Amino acid sequence: MTKPQAIKAAEDRDQPLPEEYFDELEKFIIDMGDTQGALIEILHKAQCIFGYLPRDVQLFIARKLGIPAAEVFGVVSFYSYFTTEPRGRHTISVCMGTACFVRGSDQIIERFKEKLNIESNQITEDGNFTLKDVRCIGACGLSPIVMVDNKVYPRVEEENLDNIIKTYSSEGL
Ligand code: FES
Repeated sequence: MTKPQAIKAAEDRDQPLPEEYFDELEKFIIDMGDTQGALIEILHKAQCIFGYLPRDVQLFIARKLGIPAAEVFGVVSFYSYFTTEPRGRHTISVCMGTACFVRGSDQIIERFKEKLNIESNQITEDGNFTLKDVRCIGACGLSPIVMVDNKVYPRVEEENLDNIIKTYSSEGL
C-alpha cells in the first residue's frame, strides 16, 4: 500500500497515523541534531513522509524539538507550501484567474474532473493526484495555465490533458 493510500485508509477507519512514519520522522529529527533552521527542514520531511501535516504530526514535532506547539503551527500556516490537508502525490492546479478564465480554464478544470473522476480539492482513488483551482499565479500572458507540482504548463488546451496526466501517472514514471 502506498503512503497516501495507507494514510487515507487510516483516516477512513478513524485510526491513528501509521507508527512507522513517526519512527522515520523521529530518526530524521535526531539526525538533524540541534541545527539552526531545523524546524523548516523537519516540516518538509514530515510532509514528505505523511503527505501532509495533520495536527498530531505538528504536535509530535513540537514535543521532539521542545518548542511551543504554537511556533510549529505558526510556521505551517505561514508557508503556503505546507498543507494540513491530505494531498495526492502530485497536485494539478488550474488557474481560475480572469485571464485564464476568459481563455477557457473553466473548461480545462471540468475536463480534468471528468478524466480524474474527482472534484476540486479531492484526491484520486489511487492517491496520485489532487486537483485544485487556484487564483492568478502571475503568468497571465501564458494563459490558460496549469501547474503540476511546481511545473508550469502554458496555453493549455483540452487535447493536452491526457498527456499531462500520463506524465505523472504511476505507469508513466
Ligand atoms: S489569471 Fe491565470 S496566470 Fe494570471
